Amino acid sequence: MRDFIARRVADVPPSGIRRFFDIAATMDDVISLGIGEPDFVTPDPILASGIKSLQLGETHYTSNSGILELRQALSSHLDRLYGVSYNPESELLITVGVSEALYLALTAIIDPGDEVIVPTPCFVSYQPEVVFAGGTPIALRTQVEDSFQVSAQAVADLITPRTKALLIGYPNNPTGAVMTRDRLAELAQLAEQHDLLVISDEIYDRLVYDHQHVCFAALPGMRERTITLGGFSKDYAMTGWRIGYAAAPEAVLGGLRKVHQYTIMSAPTVSQFAALEALKSGEEHVQRMLAEYDRRRRLIVDGLNELGLTTFEPHGAFYAFPSIETSGMDDEQFADRLLQEEKVAVVPGNAFGAGGFVRCSYATDYEQIEEALERMMRFMQRHG
Ligand SMILES: Cc1ncc(COP(=O)(O)O)c(C=O)c1O
Repeated sequence: MRDFIARRVADVPPSGIRRFFDIAATMDDVISLGIGEPDFVTPDPILASGIKSLQLGETHYTSNSGILELRQALSSHLDRLYGVSYNPESELLITVGVSEALYLALTAIIDPGDEVIVPTPCFVSYQPEVVFAGGTPIALRTQVEDSFQVSAQAVADLITPRTKALLIGYPNNPTGAVMTRDRLAELAQLAEQHDLLVISDEIYDRLVYDHQHVCFAALPGMRERTITLGGFSKDYAMTGWRIGYAAAPEAVLGGLRKVHQYTIMSAPTVSQFAALEALKSGEEHVQRMLAEYDRRRRLIVDGLNELGLTTFEPHGAFYAFPSIETSGMDDEQFADRLLQEEKVAVVPGNAFGAGGFVRCSYATDYEQIEEALERMMRFMQRHG
């Protein structure tokens, strides 16, 4: 029988994160610093609102764009937080997580052979999704010495007549980096100069420490050339509800809505009601979870640095990204051996396009992180 899988799908390697979860799942007593999702259960009022919607019989499709009340609440939320205004009728689309919003954005804008510049290290899906949409991802490696910032000059060097978009994700998974306003403003200028679209994945926008999140679309002139992707999974501990959104000017959002109409129809109804409640009453819970992440962030960053695993100070999301150079291993070996010898799961940086580092999530109980650090100390005493 011939191979039915399309070349562009076959050529993309499987996600480097899953392999470690699969191994870890077969072992007892593993501490996982591997998982990129909140350990918190969705806050009670949000849960209750989802349950109530089901009891009230809200079990049908919604409008393709999502329930209007949610879009209205989201529009006010973005305006209040970032001063950027989207028409709830035509410029906001409720999606199945940021995952779907990303898929829609790329599918809607990419013609065969279009290039999308993707700064790395980055979320595992960015480059494969550009490929699935028929485009070519052009990776741009950011450096720890430059606090994993994207340099406009480095982007400019990669621009060709085929470049259509820049795909950025800050606060960043896996590094925890946030981009400074100045650096973002330089990218904005470049986007203007070269007539580029910017897809800005801001799923961790509320999870920033000692920092003000800068919404890319709120920079002068950028609303018209930005697709903002945002969600509820991380900020409100709602990964399993599969709910997110895309915000863009009408002409662009219409393209995303068309793909969404034909592939998804509407995001889960129960989750839309829960997301509405998250916007109404979730703030105190966001702040509570953020304070706890911050406590863990200090523990893990200090702890890793003390082990000789030099760790960049993360200012957002819930990841630490230590260099594992002093171990004398590459990141795959390090993660493999740490799992086998001390039963601590971390993700090799390679999965995100940055060998020489591992990603340690601190969306894990404080005491578990303490125990993981002790195990890592034993590991480094043997291998450091
Ligand atoms: C940067 C980034 N974007 C998007 C996603 C996908 O999120 P969602 O659960 O909303 O699909 C993740 C999940 O890990 C992420 O880290």
